[in-house]
Amino acid sequence: MGAAYTRTSNNPERILEFDLSAELNHGKAVSNLAYAVASELGLDHHLCYELAIAGMLHDIGKLKLTGYINGQENDPLVIEELKFVRMHPTLGYEELKDQGYSDFILESILYHHENYDGSGYPSNKAGEEIPIGARILRVCDVFTALSSDRPYRKAFERETVMELMIDEVKNFDMNVFIAFQKVVHNT
Ligand SMILES: [Fe+2]
Repeated sequence: MGAAYTRTSNNPERILEFDLSAELNHGKAVSNLAYAVASELGLDHHLCYELAIAGMLHDIGKLKLTGYINGQENDPLVIEELKFVRMHPTLGYEELKDQGYSDFILESILYHHENYDGSGYPSNKAGEEIPIGARILRVCDVFTALSSDRPYRKAFERETVMELMIDEVKNFDMNVFIAFQKVVHNT
């Protein structure tokens, strides 16, 4: 294994660090924003509420993920880390599917990393194949992540966040993105 492929626990780019309070704050922020964007899009009130729940729980699979990597922290290849990270929507779905959550909530979580152009994961779904709840979460998740401090970088300014999102607009449902822009400009 070449040194170029190894990462150490103090590597600032490390992606498997798990900070529970940061994850909870992220969940709350995504939940609030997703509720507002779903309302702006005219979704039924019941679905807006369900999407708020999905927003809170969307990354819960990361809790399982830490179990997969325990003891391997000093030795993962970058590609292996990415493979594990990419399991978190499915792990979250599997964890919640027998706990009484609706299909709308479960599918919003399972597909929250699908991209509108089909380049996302876990299923490479594209366009309207991606459930609307997941399309909304995708936009809200990216915005919230870029707007927050990370261990290796400070939060980006609002203007920079918008520029970065427009660069990646192929990932988003344009109707959702426009509704999101309206919500953010009104806050
Ligand atoms: Fe996620």
